[in-house]
Amino acid sequence: MKRLFLAAAILSLGAAPALAGDPAAGEAAFNQCQTCHVVANEEGEVLAGRAGRQGPNLYGIIGRTAGTVEGFRYQASLVQAGEEGLVWDEENLVPYLLNPQDFLRETLDDRRARSGMTHRVRNEDMARDLVAFLAQFGEAPAAEDGGDDEEAAAD
Ligand code: HEC
Repeated sequence: MKRLFLAAAILSLGAAPALAGDPAAGEAAFNQCQTCHVVANEEGEVLAGRAGRQGPNLYGIIGRTAGTVEGFRYQASLVQAGEEGLVWDEENLVPYLLNPQDFLRETLDDRRARSGMTHRVRNEDMARDLVAFLAQFGEAPAAEDGGDDEEAAAD
């Protein structure tokens, strides 16, 4: 009972800093992504990774609608998720990175949904570190406004 209460207390903290990842650790962990992904800005300047093109550019991933990098050939499920309103944020990227296929199946409520990304991050801490690292690259870094955005947890 006590443990349950503690879990609820932790959950209610939401996106509190205690749960935020470490961008430096994320940079090291990005090694496993760069065979397939780069982070390159609008000018084409490569900010992370090298020449990975099997996956979409991850520049500005936080706040971006899923499956919308122009010219990239996504699988249908990810495009559909974006069309249904999936916008990447610090929270939903974590389960996606842990298991893209399960994430899409749950998000779309479709057991046959498929992910074009088969890679899975080993554990949640590493996923959070990666998200913290990727959050550094983009137009408008997400503003910290006290974190009372309840709707992000829906579904
Ligand atoms: C073997 C290649 C490969 C590796 C390794 C890989 N990815 Fe991917 N990733 C892809 C592909 C392909 C897609 C497009 C998925 C689809 O179409 O369903 C993708 C999609 C994504 C998306 C969604 C992008 C969007 O535009 O909606 C994110 C975020 C992402 N990857 C992050 C990562 C991170 C972080 C890592 C390292 C932990 C990683 N990926 C490792 C191939 C890879």
